Amino acid sequence: MITLALPKGRLYEKTRDLLARCGYHLTLSDRQLVAEEPTGRIRAILVKNSDLPTYVHNGIAGIGVCGTDVIFESGYPFHELLTLPYGQTRICLAGLPDAPERARGTVLEVATKFPRFTRSFFHAQGIPVSVVKLNGSVELAPVLGLTPYIVDLVETGSTLKAHNLEIHETIGTTTVKMIANYAFYKYHYRRVDDFVKQLQNHREGTTE
Ligand code: PRP
Repeated sequence: MITLALPKGRLYEKTRDLLARCGYHLTLSDRQLVAEEPTGRIRAILVKNSDLPTYVHNGIAGIGVCGTDVIFESGYPFHELLTLPYGQTRICLAGLPDAPERARGTVLEVATKFPRFTRSFFHAQGIPVSVVKLNGSVELAPVLGLTPYIVDLVETGSTLKAHNLEIHETIGTTTVKMIANYAFYKYHYRRVDDFVKQLQNHREGTTE
């Protein structure tokens, strides 16, 4: 049996549908966090998005489904098995329309769930940045005056719009990957590769 870590939230349903098309029917309710599907080949654990790399890195789950943004933040290395055809988003620098101008040499104050990515992106450009780490609802930061800017994922743009925020710059893109713990993959690569092939054969039907 392969233990597969799935992220709670918007990626869960699409991954569940893809698995169902491969013949793995998961019935995880909101409060249920571990489930086996009827074939007995997959055990799924449902975890918080940002914790998923920790579960796979420590071998609690052999494989997992995770955005590249969250993988990068974790700092852990993984064996990359597959890019999934959904969940692509932009990573943007956003703020109020009248956010202070970004003058050369001044420190950019940013709130974000992605401090590692934010620092590395702006430092690579020689832009000093002061990062406030938040765990969610990042859009509140400029509205409430915590920082003038945020770095956050933008999918439909409706969360930014609801807070009267605008995109100042698109600084990256994310995709969703199926990843494996290196040691697990080394010992179980045949089973994992078979599973990945099944997903590849059925992923075309899954779109944004
Ligand atoms: C993500 C992201 C934005 C929102 C963007 O948050 O951090 O807040 O989705 O999506 P949109 O462009 O379609 O509006 P998520 O829903 O994961 O919740 P969180 O803020 O609590 O992390």
